[in-house]
Amino acid sequence: MFEHVTHAPPDAIFGLSEAFRKDPNPDKINLGAGVYKDEDGRTPVLDCVKQAEARLLATEPSKSYLPIDGASAYGVAVRELIFGADHEVVTERRAVTAHNPGGTGALRVAADLMKHVRPDVNVWLSEPTWPNHPQIFEAVGLEMKSYPYFDEDSNDLAFERMIRALGQVRANDVVLLHGCCHNPTGVDPTIEEWARIGDVLAERGAVPLLDFAYQGLASGVREDPVGIRALCERVPELMVCSSFSKNFGLYAERVGALTVVAASEERAQAVCSQVKRLVRANYSNPPVHGSAIVTTVLGDAGLSEQWLGELKQMRERIHHMRQLFASELDRRGVMLSAEGNDFIARQRGMFSFSGLDRLQVARLRDEHSIYIVGSGRLNVAGMTESNMPRLCDAIAAVTSAS
Ligand SMILES: Cc1ncc(COP(=O)(O)O)c(C=O)c1O
Repeated sequence: MFEHVTHAPPDAIFGLSEAFRKDPNPDKINLGAGVYKDEDGRTPVLDCVKQAEARLLATEPSKSYLPIDGASAYGVAVRELIFGADHEVVTERRAVTAHNPGGTGALRVAADLMKHVRPDVNVWLSEPTWPNHPQIFEAVGLEMKSYPYFDEDSNDLAFERMIRALGQVRANDVVLLHGCCHNPTGVDPTIEEWARIGDVLAERGAVPLLDFAYQGLASGVREDPVGIRALCERVPELMVCSSFSKNFGLYAERVGALTVVAASEERAQAVCSQVKRLVRANYSNPPVHGSAIVTTVLGDAGLSEQWLGELKQMRERIHHMRQLFASELDRRGVMLSAEGNDFIARQRGMFSFSGLDRLQVARLRDEHSIYIVGSGRLNVAGMTESNMPRLCDAIAAVTSAS
């Protein structure tokens, strides 16, 4: 069976982390994978998580299987986080949630669902997008198309071009949008732009699929779903893939969720039954620990407040690093775009889409042991006051010589 098997290429992002681990340079810097680091370069366990875990250790009654779609309290917590408890999709019970292993698991289950209920849909992806998106949809055999998203001249949203492309979408096609903190560009639509996107999708009869991996890392937990809520006002059906890897720091616990909004409670329940069949034939049911942490924190007023505070600290540290990065580049006379480096501070979320080209990225790795994704995406959350001078010196070196 395996005689003809050749090596697959390493993953665009995890492959970088492997190369980083093997690099013997003590001053190496990893700005590849989207993992938050604190000022000391560590990825800490949040205090609210530690406290929730201590409670769980003391009180957890059993490790028996969860239901196929996870614990119902987790589903309630996820929906309230996205929509708010009073939102009509919640009160009308038009939304159902399945707990999946990570945001990636949620996207994969969404892809399986789409393939199952509408095998000939097109999935529209932003250009550029997270490199795992096309891999996930390819794995289930869905057709993909792309729409323009980023304007390289202005370092901003290519909004009019995006709207024109979305005007070509067929009825029932799925349009993948990043709920906030677009990866890799860090550029999100404004609330007015979200409304117009919603109008076009409603006109075309298309279904939005929101990848919501960074809730709380743009403006705040309550502010970040504005785009999703604007879409909800305009279309009867949509899907949201949440992840608690970044905002709770629960990367390795694999906590995500697929929430499907349907036109009626009856339709939502039917979809839920199909999701359960697909999950049962895949990983059967989800792992308990990470989701129990999230449910415990969100179900306790004190722990929730603490979480919001810890998340705010992460968000503010990243923003501070953005400003420092831009000013340190300025000081060295490095301009990452024709209009300077101000765009770096405008981008949202963990990443900066730096404009560095593939050759410069390769030189950063080979000559300076600085690891960033080939598209030029830098993980700002991996920058610290202490690695900043070395990083900016290296960028100055590779940009001046090219
Ligand atoms: C845009 C986007 N979607 C989804 C994910 C998946 O996250 P998870 O680790 O929860 O699978 C990530 C993680 O990097 C991401 O950047």
